[in-house]
Amino acid sequence: MTAGSTLSLMQATAPSAPAAAVRVSGLRGGYGGAPAIEGVDLALPEGARVGLLGPNGGGKTTLLRALLGELPDVGGELTVEGRLGVVPQTERSRLDFPVSALDVALMGTLSRLPWWRRPSRADRRAALAALERVGLRAEARRTFGELSGGQRQRVLVARALVQDARVLLLDEPFSGLDDPSTRLLESLFGDLAAEGRTLLISTHEIDQARGWDLVLCLNRAQIAFGPPDAVLTRDVLERTYGANVVELPGGGRGVMPPHHCG
Ligand SMILES: Nc1ncnc2c1ncn2[C@@H]1O[C@H](COP(=O)(O)OP(=O)(O)OP(=O)(O)O)[C@@H](O)[C@H]1O
Ligand SMILES: [Mg+2]
Repeated sequence: MTAGSTLSLMQATAPSAPAAAVRVSGLRGGYGGAPAIEGVDLALPEGARVGLLGPNGGGKTTLLRALLGELPDVGGELTVEGRLGVVPQTERSRLDFPVSALDVALMGTLSRLPWWRRPSRADRRAALAALERVGLRAEARRTFGELSGGQRQRVLVARALVQDARVLLLDEPFSGLDDPSTRLLESLFGDLAAEGRTLLISTHEIDQARGWDLVLCLNRAQIAFGPPDAVLTRDVLERTYGANVVELPGGGRGVMPPHHCG
């Protein structure tokens, strides 16, 4: 954070009856020039799956980085209860170097260790338990880069579980996944929310977000935030995606396929 930033970041343990795991007020942020996001006001309750929708370049990744305290230029107020874990946009950060699924899950312990300590047996047990949790215990020794996209996503979720993250920030975790992998990941997200974790999930699939608890539409500025039925109106979608919103043949609405240049 730069000098002069008005962001106040408070990490605290979860109180007994918390209203929100993440609370953001008047948040804006960017990379030194004009703000990439602004006017973000939201409260993410414990146990909620929250969809983050917006066009390419709309500021989804920037918002997640703001929540992580990673943006060079940020203002507003931000309160996070408990530990944050991140599952990055993998197509941009593919790990091709030869580390195993277990190594990646073990990275979740490193943030808690002093720099001179190697992961202990207990850490390895925790990493293996997390891989079991995401259905990948049998793949622990396989090279991360050789796993399928869906398996890589689940390994990264395991890493966040090893970190004991109460709030998971997931940047387009479904991107490039086939239907069975998508269903597996969705069901895992349902389980994680049911145990009180909060999930903020950026996606390009409007209809997928209809099945979650809350939706945030972001197109540089916050367009809308609330329950899917209230937020996902034609008006909001057009202000979010511009002319790219199309009626789908079987009903519902979608956006033109996103273009990634990364
Ligand atoms: N490291 C950076 N330095 C400068 N500008 C950046 C940087 N990263 C992103 N931006 C700019 O911030 C704006 C928001 O980008 P961001 O990556 O947050 O969008 P996004 O919604 O995640 O897009 P996508 O759907 O393509 O992942 C864009 O105008 C982008 O060019
Ligand atoms: Mg992004």
